[in-house]
Amino acid sequence: MDLFSAIDTEPVRKHMEELAAEVDRLNHEYYMNDRSLVSDEEFDRMLRELQDLERQYPELASPLSPTKRVGGEVNKKFRQVEHRFPMLSLGNTYSIEEIEEFEARTRRLLDGTPFSYTCELKYDGVAIGLTYRHGQLVQAVTRGNGAVGDDITINAKTIGTIPLRLRGEYPDDFEARGEVVYPFDAFEAMNKQREAEGDEPFANPRNAASGSLKLQDSAECAKRKLMFCMYFMMAPDGVALPDTHYGRLEWARQMGFKVQPYIQECKDITEIKAFIDHWDKARWELPFGIDGIVIKVNQTALWDRLGLTAKSPRWAIAYKFKAERVSTPLESISFQVGRTGKVTPVANLQPVWLGGTTVRRATLVNADFIEKMGICVGDSLLIEKGGEIIPKVIGVDMEKRQAGAMPVQYIERCPECGARLVREEGEAGHYCPNSDGCHPQIIGRLEHFVSRKAMNIETLGPERLELLYAAGLVRNVADIYDLKREQLIGLGSEATIQEKGADNLLAAVEGSKQVPFDRVVFALGIRYVGEVGAKKLARYFKNMESLMNAGEEELAQVEDVGDVTARAVAEWFADGEHRKIVDRLREAGLQMEYRADEGDERLAGMTIVVSGVFEHFSRDEIKADIERHGGKVSGSISGKTTYLLAGDKMGPEKLKKAEKLGVRLLSETEYMEMVGQ
Ligand code: IVH
Repeated sequence: MDLFSAIDTEPVRKHMEELAAEVDRLNHEYYMNDRSLVSDEEFDRMLRELQDLERQYPELASPLSPTKRVGGEVNKKFRQVEHRFPMLSLGNTYSIEEIEEFEARTRRLLDGTPFSYTCELKYDGVAIGLTYRHGQLVQAVTRGNGAVGDDITINAKTIGTIPLRLRGEYPDDFEARGEVVYPFDAFEAMNKQREAEGDEPFANPRNAASGSLKLQDSAECAKRKLMFCMYFMMAPDGVALPDTHYGRLEWARQMGFKVQPYIQECKDITEIKAFIDHWDKARWELPFGIDGIVIKVNQTALWDRLGLTAKSPRWAIAYKFKAERVSTPLESISFQVGRTGKVTPVANLQPVWLGGTTVRRATLVNADFIEKMGICVGDSLLIEKGGEIIPKVIGVDMEKRQAGAMPVQYIERCPECGARLVREEGEAGHYCPNSDGCHPQIIGRLEHFVSRKAMNIETLGPERLELLYAAGLVRNVADIYDLKREQLIGLGSEATIQEKGADNLLAAVEGSKQVPFDRVVFALGIRYVGEVGAKKLARYFKNMESLMNAGEEELAQVEDVGDVTARAVAEWFADGEHRKIVDRLREAGLQMEYRADEGDERLAGMTIVVSGVFEHFSRDEIKADIERHGGKVSGSISGKTTYLLAGDKMGPEKLKKAEKLGVRLLSETEYMEMVGQ
């Protein structure tokens, strides 16, 4: 590396700019116009070339580069920022009469002035505000409390429908507002993947969109395939905008925003009502969720005349759709047994079309729920679907109740293994106590143990576990560590596991021995002990020995561990079979002691200056990594600097200054060793 050679970077800069412009253009066609102008491979090649160049010449990388769309920056905590213009909400109603009143009041207040309305969709997502200056995205902020929100700029940049640079003419300084929604197909695919990986699925696309915007790793957010629907534009005094709301959105579309085409100018209440009626039925054909219709006075000069109430403008209102509800016969009830033995009753329904999908099943939660609803054999149930994707049983359709109908009898024995079910005091649900002999419990526990957030043995999916179970090789989680290569090869009816598969599997099993203690505690699958609870138990008891021998009272001392969980933990460890399993896991070499995340402390008290480019990290990543290990990152070298973390192509001035002040240089490899990577 020759630090002092001067390279003429001008041609590189120009090439990078051209590449970025081309990728931007392709992105725009793809996200806004649903058109792929080149193959995926060609697109990836261009993006990768740009990424490589940015890594090589970080000083030439633009913060608005299309490479930001794939994420990679990590945000520890979202900065709170004040909104330049408060983010007001809208008055809303479920009643058409109130929409009629709104329309009549507006007409009265405007006293003969000619005007119109715009009717548009009320997107069911998360409101954000995007600030653009000189055509460039400078900040993205969530609504928060309307006055202050979270700065989620790095995540917003990963959303393809948010333009990073505007096209054509644009106001020099303005804010674009809209809703980030999670399209149904992407939402369902993501939830499926979460479930496969042992994560709790999101309840609905709105929650998922909100959670995604708050992800600390923007690369994760990029994978979520969110969409931004723009619906509002505002600018400071002195910046001219079109004088109709419709005109503003039209202009925004030309600048490169995704403005949904479902917007209509309406002249009176009849047209407004027709728009509402249409979308009340047609909404399920949309690829994303809406929860109503927003009606705004179109002429923006009239907004001031109409003014504001305490928290919402008088020139707009939202009509909210009622949840859709249908009645359908209950054909039978199935009982599912989970890994903890918990039994969940599920209603098998006569298939019925509701809110865009055919509903065949719905949860009946537990015995209490069935009793409370008073469900009888032969009943029809009322099913509702609001903003949620998952339909809910909300009651019995009493009009269809048959004479002499008998209440549903809850099962007394486990549908899987025949054991007598138990219902503990204070518990709403039933459990199958036969944990060692009940198939779904055994497989469920194994699945949980190997899942990503537990021991993360990826190569052991549900099918393989079934295979190992059927072959008599794995009955409990400790058996996984006794597996031998020769037992695995050729396993399965069509020799599903071959040599390479066996090696990979054993390597993954071996790798899991490094998984930290708190995740081992989580992996045991003790009832009520989730990821967070396991962490708290691990931190408090420090090792398996103490945790195993703790009494109920001491367990309940742990932060966030209630009496019920404390009892479940104590009972779990009181079982001799469980203790044997834990002993075998210890012998196998799993982590049985808590280590205060060494990463958190290792760089405590150190101030590090980062310069140049790195092989394993982007510059932002390595800075975040230093902070994660308790170190401080500084931009300039001084007497207080502990190390100059020197990457490739480091500036000569920094090096000179470090030498002058006697600051030690640290290479990327040395750094990685230091933090134990
Ligand atoms: S206009 C000052 N238009 O619904 C008016 N809002 O309380 C600004 N929303 O907070 C809002 N779709 O998050 C507007 N087409 C749309 C909308 C919309 C969804 C959200 C927005 C707002 C809430 C209403």
